[in-house]
Amino acid sequence: MANSEYEYVKREFEFDRRLPPSNWSVVRIDGCHFHRFSKIHAFEKPNDENALRLMNTCATAMLEKFPDIVFAYGVSDEYSFVFREETEFYHRRESKILSLCVSYFTSVYVMKWKDFFPNKELKEPPYFDARAICYPNLKTIRDYLAWRQVDCHINNQYNTCFWMLVKSGKSEQEAQLVLKGTFAKDKNELLAQQFQINYDDEPAMFRKGSSVYREKVETTVKIDDYGNPIKRPRLKVTVAHIDIIGPEFWENHQHILREGKFMHEFVKKFGNDRMLPPCNWIVVRINGCQFDQFSMIHSFDKPNDETALRLMDASASLMMEQYPDIVFGYGFSNEYSFVFHDKTELYQRQESLILSSCSSYFTSLYMKKWKEFFPDKELKQTPRFEAEALCYPKLKIVCEYLSWRQAECHAGNQYNTCFWMLVKSGKGEREAHEILKGTLSKDKNELLFQQFQMNYNNEPALFRKGSCIYRRKQMSTGGRTCGGGGRRRWHHKRTVGCESGPR
Ligand code: GTP
Ligand code: MG
Repeated sequence: MANSEYEYVKREFEFDRRLPPSNWSVVRIDGCHFHRFSKIHAFEKPNDENALRLMNTCATAMLEKFPDIVFAYGVSDEYSFVFREETEFYHRRESKILSLCVSYFTSVYVMKWKDFFPNKELKEPPYFDARAICYPNLKTIRDYLAWRQVDCHINNQYNTCFWMLVKSGKSEQEAQLVLKGTFAKDKNELLAQQFQINYDDEPAMFRKGSSVYREKVETTVKIDDYGNPIKRPRLKVTVAHIDIIGPEFWENHQHILREGKFMHEFVKKFGNDRMLPPCNWIVVRINGCQFDQFSMIHSFDKPNDETALRLMDASASLMMEQYPDIVFGYGFSNEYSFVFHDKTELYQRQESLILSSCSSYFTSLYMKKWKEFFPDKELKQTPRFEAEALCYPKLKIVCEYLSWRQAECHAGNQYNTCFWMLVKSGKGEREAHEILKGTLSKDKNELLFQQFQMNYNNEPALFRKGSCIYRRKQMSTGGRTCGGGGRRRWHHKRTVGCESGPR
């Protein structure tokens, strides 16, 4: 339905998260509920050789099918597939890569089942989940694989002991108790002494897991005129049960995790900016960094410095003039939330640009207005504001968000009012915290009333309710341009304090 009026649902709502460039991407597949699956298909415990070989066959098929997979490592019901660093498989679109891998793997598993279990019917459809993880350099990808092999070793050693104990007559609970707190050495001793098993003689597939990769093998490519085979090294997908923790294997197989070629055009791919989802209300929340220190250096009044709050309000108010897409602002203390309407196309909704420009512009306004609000105070330290963007698909949730911020304002201010009244009355700060610990809102109101004859509700609304900023529709005479005639205009009116929240 190209270019129909409905086409926007694809264009605007479908997001393709792309795996970051120049990373080795690992897709790790894990059997879903394989505890149950292995039980109903009576897999041998702790290792069912056929089940593991079936997994290896699936992994081999994956490497044969997808040339971008350079290595795979499997143990139990999981398999990790490593995509080469510079892969352009499905343009690195995560959902495509994940779904395709897991689906193909499953499909081979079902198709090849009969080859490994000719006498067992597949009673339930096996299925797997998959996740993608990215490793930026050779060390981290090698460490990832080492981690999986260490895990294989630890689990297999434990399981070998556990099932030997159970098979020798212990209950599962007893076996668990015997193994609790034992080290690798103890487990090896237990196997040797009680069962005459040398753990190192156990099959390498169980101890080391399975590695699948392309190995250079001499392959006959044709027969010459005299009947002699002509051999050439060819890469063949191979399964081995070897150590991949130490350097030896990797030194002998440098072609596997070869670093990709670097192309000039390639650097552009690193700028993958997040687009904020369409038709969502965007809230940019700005918050002063290290404002404790900042307010101390500039000796702001405690707990509230009215001038400092008015400076925040004035800066926020000017923000709304610069950004017409902001429909509402709510602030208290050293934070301000700006609500952008759901249709905003500011910076094509690119998160980093929205965030950075808001925080930078706000900082700039705050500094520019400083002198006006604090004519006698020099700005001794540069104020800094961090910003984050939040997306809300429904207006109702935006309202809930704002209510939440106002509730925070109330709780914080009530606490601080009590705290500083106690401190000013001679209590130590620690003592004041102790007194307030566990008190409810009601208790704090009573404390203020009884000890300081203060009615909290008579405190300035600016402190108790925070500040809301919005545009109000009102008639205005257009001044010089309109002569006497009235003209309807949107007017920017800042309301401080007395608004009791957006609900
Ligand atoms: P989810 O992955 O969370 O869905 O659960 P799961 O039941 O698959 O458990 P998990 O992946 O943590 O562990 C794999 C489980 O598969 C093991 O606990 C075993 O029960 C079972 N399993 C895997 N390989 C074998 C095997 O060779 N023999 C037997 N008997 N069981 C196996
Ligand atoms: Mg599993």
